Amino acid sequence: TLGHRIAVIPGDGIGTEVMPEGLRVLEAAASRFGLDLRFETFDFACWPYYERHGAMLPPDWQDILGGFDAIYFGAVGWPEKIPDHVSLWGSLLQFRRAFDQYVNLRPARLMPGVRAPLVRADGTPYAPGEIDMLIVRENTEGEYSSIGGRMFEGTERELVVQETVMTRHGVDRVLRFAFEQARRRRGRLTSATKSNGIAITMPYWDERVRAMAAAYPDVAVDQYHIDILTAHFVQRPDRFDVVVASNLFGDILSDLAPACTGTIGIAPSANLNPERRFPSLFEPVHGSAPDIAGRGIANPIGQIWSGALMLDFLGHREAHDAIVRAIEAALAPGSGAPRTPDLGGRAGTADLGRAIAEALRAGA
Ligand code: NAD
Ligand code: IPM
Ligand code: MN
Repeated sequence: TLGHRIAVIPGDGIGTEVMPEGLRVLEAAASRFGLDLRFETFDFACWPYYERHGAMLPPDWQDILGGFDAIYFGAVGWPEKIPDHVSLWGSLLQFRRAFDQYVNLRPARLMPGVRAPLVRADGTPYAPGEIDMLIVRENTEGEYSSIGGRMFEGTERELVVQETVMTRHGVDRVLRFAFEQARRRRGRLTSATKSNGIAITMPYWDERVRAMAAAYPDVAVDQYHIDILTAHFVQRPDRFDVVVASNLFGDILSDLAPACTGTIGIAPSANLNPERRFPSLFEPVHGSAPDIAGRGIANPIGQIWSGALMLDFLGHREAHDAIVRAIEAALAPGSGAPRTPDLGGRAGTADLGRAIAEALRAGA
């Protein structure tokens, strides 16, 4: 069979700690399912590279990465050394844009053996699987815009402007993707905006949702303002199926949703170019976590699950399913598998990674 060429970029902080566990599990999946995964690791998109080169990426990064089938990414950002907007606009946000990864897919599910911090109004806990949503985040335009500027710097008249950009093409394509997902899941789609206050772009998004909904009569659509939607996430997280939102709102909801299911340490993401004209990028939702970096205690599941999403996108659904089952097996109460501190345990990153690889080899 034809191999897959995968660019590996560990990045900063805990990115470098969870990446080896992601690779460990991918290697285990490759041997179990006979996949030919060819990894090539790159040292850019991190503070140490910037320190040496004065830039986050080599000038020819698009040529280097453009030929890969996928990019497996850790996390980037070391705010003590380099401002976040410099490191992120110099790396990850360039990847998403240059490779037109306009869908950021972020599943959040209550897994067995993970305690959700939330309970129902009547005090009963949610059961595994009862919280199960898929955030579909617009990933190339919206509030993340480079249009704007600063004037009268250092004076009393100092002024900053940053425009939100929504194009019909950009909004419609991510909505279509979200509706298709809803159709394949439980047939429910929730859209988040803020059309009462942000009165030009957000009503436009709402209008496009209604237009798209006409083509999907089988999908039940809810539209909420983002403020009350965050309250509903906390009070009725089981009500949501597919949630589609602009770049910024999708970013916020995709930390909130996994926090509602216990920890952001398990949350995966897939930055997709669905047409496959460019490589897609797979990374955990979380960042480089400077507060715990260097201690070997980060939860590797977000990285591992992202690897599963990558195999799915590369056409290996079975391998994806097996990795998710191995994660569930390791998390399951009574599995005896080690747990990282965010899961209430005292184990290290590699302990949990090895347990998942072991469960996968054992045929989970
Ligand atoms: P963060 O996600 O790095 O950390 C937030 C909190 O969650 C921290 O307390 C951290 O310890 C905890 N946490 C995160 N991942 C965890 C894991 N796997 N296991 C256990 N605990 C975990 O967010 P932040 O602190 O806002 O950002 C830190 C840096 O990462 C910044 O430079 C930021 O810009 C960057 N960042 C990068 C990405 C990315 O590369 N995709 C995403 C988010 C933030
Ligand atoms: C994410 C991150 C990034 C984003 C940051 C680091 C620019 O928070 O992937 O969720 O906002 O997209
Ligand atoms: Mn985020």
